[in-house]
Amino acid sequence: MRELSDRTANFTDSVIRRMTRIANRYGAVNLSQGFPDFDPPREITDRLSEVAKSGPHQYALTWGAKNFREALARKYEHFSGINIDPESEIVVTCGSTEAMMAAMMSITNPKDKVVIFSPFYENYGADTILSGAEPIYVPLVPPEFNFDREVLEEAFRQGAKALILCNPSNPCGKVFTYDELMIIAELAKKYDAYVITDEVYEHIVYEPNRHIYMASLPGMRERTIVCNSLSKTYSITGWRLGYVIANKKITDRVKKVHDFLTVGAAAPLMEAAVTGLLFDDSYYDELKAHYTHMKELFVGGLKSLGLRFTEPQGAYYVLVDVSEFGVKDDVRFCEWMAEYVGVAAVPGSSFFKEDVHNLIRFHYAKKDDTLIEALKRLATLREKALNAVDVDWR
Ligand SMILES: Cc1ncc(COP(=O)(O)O)c(C=O)c1O
Repeated sequence: MRELSDRTANFTDSVIRRMTRIANRYGAVNLSQGFPDFDPPREITDRLSEVAKSGPHQYALTWGAKNFREALARKYEHFSGINIDPESEIVVTCGSTEAMMAAMMSITNPKDKVVIFSPFYENYGADTILSGAEPIYVPLVPPEFNFDREVLEEAFRQGAKALILCNPSNPCGKVFTYDELMIIAELAKKYDAYVITDEVYEHIVYEPNRHIYMASLPGMRERTIVCNSLSKTYSITGWRLGYVIANKKITDRVKKVHDFLTVGAAAPLMEAAVTGLLFDDSYYDELKAHYTHMKELFVGGLKSLGLRFTEPQGAYYVLVDVSEFGVKDDVRFCEWMAEYVGVAAVPGSSFFKEDVHNLIRFHYAKKDDTLIEALKRLATLREKALNAVDVDWR
């Protein structure tokens, strides 16, 4: 038989999804893959029941149902202050995952360079491979996860055509400040590059941090491609509703890529999700309060266990430093922890380009009971880890 494609030959399994399988095998509390174990808002699921009877059940317009785009445009304008034309500047996709792939395919040619901050959300690596682009990694240095302006400029000097900005960041919980965003914006303009943003955690930001939309900065509207989704904001990760917002010249391309990739997002789910897009500010205030509560419960628990971590500013992940246990292989450590401590995390090395093996990522978008159970089990971590003999992670 002839060889399969070179392009996909070096793909590894998603480490995150693998940790979920391992968690299931050992009955571990799964704090690896980032999805809530609580229900979406009642209003949205009630509307879904109605839509099941009334439809629509056939293909929507390929770039998204009109009422969905109109509601989204209003919501986006409300929070970002940016006016967008729902007819020409939005493409509804199957999750932000497709949005990012369609954006990359629309912006880059094979061998074009794309700047990615490291640590990074693992899909970006695959997105660059699939689109043929070449990543240039710029470190966000732990524990503060700051970047060096000079290192970033050097990446642009190498001819980068685009930069991917995950803000708020998965996995490190960083929320980029105005000054940091201005540095990125100035460099993007100076070197005539695009910025592709991933803003799926825009509403999960902890006080006193603020989410600033890259597209709202001076001169950035026309060179920013926003990738976003409803997955995290409305706790509907399984609905696969995402979108691209950009100027018409860019969305014209994205529409075509999207049409050939997936034809369109699910029509009944778009119809039901309009209910969420029309929520008023109180929904987003409550969402933020809920996540702040989960963060304080879990991260506060980690603190009282004496574990070291960087306080998240946004999103719902925390990177914990496990170097005190002598961890050399974080992948095996996470497997061991799922089996012997009963909590699953993601090995930090899967997010870093650099050789980092002392961090593991937990997510805390979970019910109180789930987080309390995880903390109870983690209370045994130090003793078990320090006393573990013949382990292959040290
Ligand atoms: C930073 C980031 N972007 C994108 C996604 C995927 O979003 P979607 O469900 O919209 O495809 C995730 C999911 O964890 C994420 O953390």
